[in-house]
Amino acid sequence: MNIQRIEEFLISTETHLQIQSLFAECFPEYPKGRSYFKQVPSFRFLVWKDQQLIAQLGIEYRMITIDGQTVSIFGIVDLCVAESFQSQKIATQLLQQTELLALENDIDFLVLVTGDHDYYRKHGFELVQNICRWLMINKQQTLGIGHRRIEESLMIKALSNKVWKKGLVDFLGAIF
Ligand SMILES: CC(C)(COP(=O)(O)OP(=O)(O)OC[C@H]1O[C@@H](n2cnc3c(N)ncnc32)[C@H](O)[C@@H]1OP(=O)(O)O)[C@@H](O)C(=O)NCCC(=O)NCCS
Repeated sequence: MNIQRIEEFLISTETHLQIQSLFAECFPEYPKGRSYFKQVPSFRFLVWKDQQLIAQLGIEYRMITIDGQTVSIFGIVDLCVAESFQSQKIATQLLQQTELLALENDIDFLVLVTGDHDYYRKHGFELVQNICRWLMINKQQTLGIGHRRIEESLMIKALSNKVWKKGLVDFLGAIF
């Protein structure tokens, strides 16, 4: 098994097709024929077994503001592992590598949006209840600005000495 880190713009068409197949297997609701949901990530970890893509984790490198304070984040998107390779700690390794890279590069927080809290709690994430502002995108069209509490979905992991405050979180772009 080989874990590759790759910038989004370097990913070949063939690999994008493999990402699409993996998403179709892991996320039945995922838009067909796309390897990103709202907007492309900055880079990804791709896990290969021989020539087959078996897992991926996308990362949005972003500056956001929390209660007026600017912080750097890695937003984690579309973490998935092909079914026949699950429960072998592959996702755990991807989360560990993401955290290590973030720590080495002074990123303040890991952030993700999920309804599935238990898995990420086990990896040190906590649920937060901030009111958020973000660019609303649907079916590849900008619809406006969302501004409300994101109930039971926003999870964060603090990596620096910055505190995640209770005020407005401005994503300065689309939510992921
Ligand atoms: C969730 C997922 C990424 C985990 O990948 P993985 O490589 O199997 O995870 P790991 O091997 O690191 O961890 C497996 C452990 O997590 C547990 N686990 C898996 N999914 C879980 C969930 N949704 N909630 C709580 N625990 C979960 C497994 O039962 C297993 O427990 P064990 O170690 O006690 O046996 C994978 O199951 C997957 O791709 N699922 C479909 C897509 C998805 O839901 N992605 C997350 C979107 S937010």
